[in-house]
Amino acid sequence: MASLNTPLELRHGRTLPNRFVLAPMTNLQSHPDGTLSDIEIAWLVARARGGFGLTMTAAAYVHAAGQVWPGQLGISSDDHLSGLERLARAVADAGSVSSVQLHHGGVKASASVSGHDVVGPWADAQTAVRALSTAEVQQAVDDFAAAAARAEKAGIDGIEIHGGHGYLVGQFLDESNNIREDGYGGDAAGRARFVHEVVRAIRDRTGPDFQVGLRLSVERFGLNPADMVHLVAALFASEALDYLDLSLWDVRKLPVHAPEGGPMVIEHFLGLPRHGTALGVAGRIPGAPDAQWVLDRGADLAFIGKAAIADHAFARRAAADPSYQAPAFPVTKEHLRAELLGEPFVEYFAGNWPQLVKP
Ligand SMILES: Cc1cc2nc3c(=O)[nH]c(=O)nc-3n(C[C@H](O)[C@H](O)[C@H](O)COP(=O)(O)O)c2cc1C
Repeated sequence: MASLNTPLELRHGRTLPNRFVLAPMTNLQSHPDGTLSDIEIAWLVARARGGFGLTMTAAAYVHAAGQVWPGQLGISSDDHLSGLERLARAVADAGSVSSVQLHHGGVKASASVSGHDVVGPWADAQTAVRALSTAEVQQAVDDFAAAAARAEKAGIDGIEIHGGHGYLVGQFLDESNNIREDGYGGDAAGRARFVHEVVRAIRDRTGPDFQVGLRLSVERFGLNPADMVHLVAALFASEALDYLDLSLWDVRKLPVHAPEGGPMVIEHFLGLPRHGTALGVAGRIPGAPDAQWVLDRGADLAFIGKAAIADHAFARRAAADPSYQAPAFPVTKEHLRAELLGEPFVEYFAGNWPQLVKP
């Protein structure tokens, strides 16, 4: 059984020094033009120095029309390169491997923030969303590939495609809404086409040392859970990904509507042949015992979100002490500032997770 300190060789690129990944976390700390700010770099580099083997950025928009939040990180233009170059160097100097999460909000993007029409796989007259034409779908595939090439040019070790949480990639997988008839919707194969094309296009545009990961949700968001098991199996078999990241919100979660005592969501995926793809999981890993639990179950990587907010050195401490627990929530704003969250992040976190921050 792997230990949390065991290095992990991926299909491409640098070996991860351990099994801890800083989960992607939107923090609204970028400049209005999407370039990285010093406070956002400081927040990330503190985690790299704090022992995370893989340090991932927040969701970064691959096209201006995909922007969801003010202060979101961008990777849609060469103007974004210099901040990413600085980040790449600082994360590498800290001994960690870097990754940028590639994102497009699709129907969840914000016209008032992005200044662009909101577009997605389907139209919605009520919210003024326009359906992408087939040519625009192919352009969106290219936008992901161009963003990945930009990350590589900046010296970042790899990217993670954000296919979770009902954003553009996940919208294509949405059985309830994606009824497109142009080959990018309808049946399970049509709905999966976009994500397969994005993975392939990124591989084609990047070099042999570049790491490509993918985050998926596997239930809710209009997803068909059985189709998601087949999709994950196909992605493993394609041998194109370095890692798959299942965003579960709770690694011990039972499927929606499943009876107590049945298999957990994670168990539908752990037994699939991985063909050399690493499998990571995210959701409620607040201490070393939980991180070890996911490895003992057969996962390869533990993605750490809120515990890494509470403790920048969670990875180093959990690697050294098998009983280590991150500071318990709620925490004070002073605590968050001391953990190198800048003011926009402190306010975003307190606003969205009020029960986790003391008033
Ligand atoms: C403040 C905050 C921002 C987040 N932003 C993102 C994001 O940009 N992309 C993403 O895929 N998930 C995002 N997530 C989800 C986390 O990556 C993670 O999967 C989730 O918090 C569950 O893990 P945890 O229980 O360890 O926090 C965010 C979570 C938090 C708390």
